[in-house]
Amino acid sequence: MSAALAEKTAPAKVAGVQTVLEARDLVRYYEVQRGLFGGKGLVKALDGVSFSLEAGKTLAIVGESGCGKSTLARLLTLIELPTEGRLLIDGIDVTGAHGAQLKALRRRVQMVFQNPYGSLNPRQTIGSTLEEPLLVNTDTPAEERRVAAMAMLAKVGLRPEHHGRYPHMFSGGQRQRIAIARALMLNPKILVLDEPVSALDVSVRAQVLNLLADLQDEFGLAYVFVSHDLSVVRHIADDVAVMYLGRAVEHGTAEAIFAKPRHPYTRALLSATPMADPTRQKQRIILTGDLPSPFAPPPGCTFHPRCPIADQERCRAEVPVLRDVDGALTACHLAV
Ligand SMILES: Nc1ncnc2c1ncn2[C@@H]1O[C@H](COP(=O)(O)OP(=O)(O)OP(=O)(O)O)[C@@H](O)[C@H]1O
Ligand SMILES: [Mg+2]
Repeated sequence: MSAALAEKTAPAKVAGVQTVLEARDLVRYYEVQRGLFGGKGLVKALDGVSFSLEAGKTLAIVGESGCGKSTLARLLTLIELPTEGRLLIDGIDVTGAHGAQLKALRRRVQMVFQNPYGSLNPRQTIGSTLEEPLLVNTDTPAEERRVAAMAMLAKVGLRPEHHGRYPHMFSGGQRQRIAIARALMLNPKILVLDEPVSALDVSVRAQVLNLLADLQDEFGLAYVFVSHDLSVVRHIADDVAVMYLGRAVEHGTAEAIFAKPRHPYTRALLSATPMADPTRQKQRIILTGDLPSPFAPPPGCTFHPRCPIADQERCRAEVPVLRDVDGALTACHLAV
């Protein structure tokens, strides 16, 4: 690595806090054909999302299907570039990076997908699956690659004999362990996990979540954890961003948000989540209607057509911006 690059890649340090990932107003629009004779339309999949994430911390991204979680995950892992906005990895703006620098940045963020079977090559042994990132990105000799793969198998709770086996010989939980192992082979700083336990049996979920927690401690990893399941998020997140139609509507510490959700959408999501504490009585808030189309989002607050408290002209006319409401950022005119 050149000295200039090394200097630029020095993590942004603020009083001992190491920010490894920062999103500033990330936007991703898709241009699509509307029907056979329709004109072109814009899908506003992501419409201005900002956050920063420190080493060793977990940011959970939650929200209904179609709110833009996977789109955000693809931008964070540099699978796609944003239409607008900036993404900084270790303080370096990836939108301006090219060549070797971009390649180096790509290695720092790795993705784990929801379906481990779909993301593993059925014809490749687990050993070669784990060694592949080293083969493609580094000049590590074959024997060292094998040793590294063996070591990683042990780290994720698999055995040496698994090295020569194929994905179909494993259970769902084991396959997700393999996907996590592969994501870690290049020693990344950040893992973006898109619904990593949603496809797993409830009994296996806790084991994989515990493994992720152990790996986070051991390697100081930062996680962006995409999930629609708030009961999972509650256990693993430091911060939570609740998304609705491509935007964050509430963003704060998990503690603040679970103790007192400020946005009516967060309240509705939480009220639909089974609580660990059965003595805590709560009323279920049922949201009416589907998530509106990101082709033609409603004017004003995009949540207003489904909002149980929107009764003001203002909600229909004026887009609420995120503001501090009692310690968490909230995009609601009426939140107090
Ligand atoms: N390549 C694409 N072209 C057109 N539209 C897209 C594309 N990718 C995503 N979208 C649209 O963007 C919106 C957000 O999609 P995204 O997959 O990010 O949602 P999500 O929150 O991950 O949903 P889920 O919980 O179902 O995985 C959806 O309306 C989707 O149809
Ligand atoms: Mg998704």
